[in-house]
Amino acid sequence: MTEEVPASATMATLEDSATPRLPHRAVAVRSVNKSYATNTGNVEAVRDVSFDVLRGQVVSLVGPSGCGKSTVLKMIAGLIPFDSGSIEVADSPAAAGRRDCGIMLQSPVLLPWRTVLENVMLPAQIMGLNKAEAEARAKSLFELVGLQGFEHSRVWELSGGMQQRASLARLLVFEPEILLMDEPFSALDEFTRERLDSELARLQTRLHRTIVYVTHNIPEAVMLSDTVVVMTPRPGQVVARTPIELPRPRTREVMAGPEAQALILGIREAFDDDGGAPE
Ligand SMILES: Nc1ncnc2c1ncn2[C@@H]1O[C@H](COP(=O)(O)OP(=O)(O)OP(=O)(O)O)[C@@H](O)[C@H]1O
Ligand SMILES: [Mg+2]
Repeated sequence: MTEEVPASATMATLEDSATPRLPHRAVAVRSVNKSYATNTGNVEAVRDVSFDVLRGQVVSLVGPSGCGKSTVLKMIAGLIPFDSGSIEVADSPAAAGRRDCGIMLQSPVLLPWRTVLENVMLPAQIMGLNKAEAEARAKSLFELVGLQGFEHSRVWELSGGMQQRASLARLLVFEPEILLMDEPFSALDEFTRERLDSELARLQTRLHRTIVYVTHNIPEAVMLSDTVVVMTPRPGQVVARTPIELPRPRTREVMAGPEAQALILGIREAFDDDGGAPE
């Protein structure tokens, strides 16, 4: 079976979903500090991290490996605590298990004893959503992510990239208004990644979800985002917040143009004092 994602795939059922009801400042991260206790002592993962994500915006966190991107995302999702500072999601403190906020972790974490469809349906099941409606959404999501035909496969029968796509479908199945995505397309080949990036951008122009998107890939961040938050490691700190005011849709031509290239270069240069840029 092919791994190709059909260009015509759309999210008809998601398209019809309700207008998001979020405050203007959907996510507010304020002076957050976080250390991990390890056998060899404390690891200071992030220091004094602050940024806002306005309703309907895409904010990307970019930075080299180990700069704390996943840590920040998990703290917004309420999956791990922080030491000081504050994180508000839709005007309330970050907490796990919210219906308005979903996270796609860096590794897919699918349950091996369930089929792919059963994995994708899991959040809908936990949240007690209407089964028939959720299954209809799941069906269009399988098409969107190019996994049609694999609904009844087992997780171990999927490649790493396919598992990532199943994890994306699982995130979208309960239609959270805030999407936290940790390198969602990193295990995919370049063509599939470009296709899914474009689908995500297209989806965003219709749905105006609020998205915090983690990536190493600066051009990808510029293509998708309203703002790029640049982090450097040891400890992870925000060194720049770059607004991206390129016209949409951000076609290949727009991305190859001087304005986009200057933004990409500017973000790369933000790493110059910190041991080199990511991709
Ligand atoms: N559970 C943990 N226990 C101890 N240290 C951790 C833990 N998780 C992360 N760290 C440390 O915190 C720092 C930030 O890690 P994090 O995973 O947030 O980085 P990242 O920017 O997402 O990296 P990558 O791009 O490789 O995914 C690293 O130094 C890492 O070693
Ligand atoms: Mg990470």
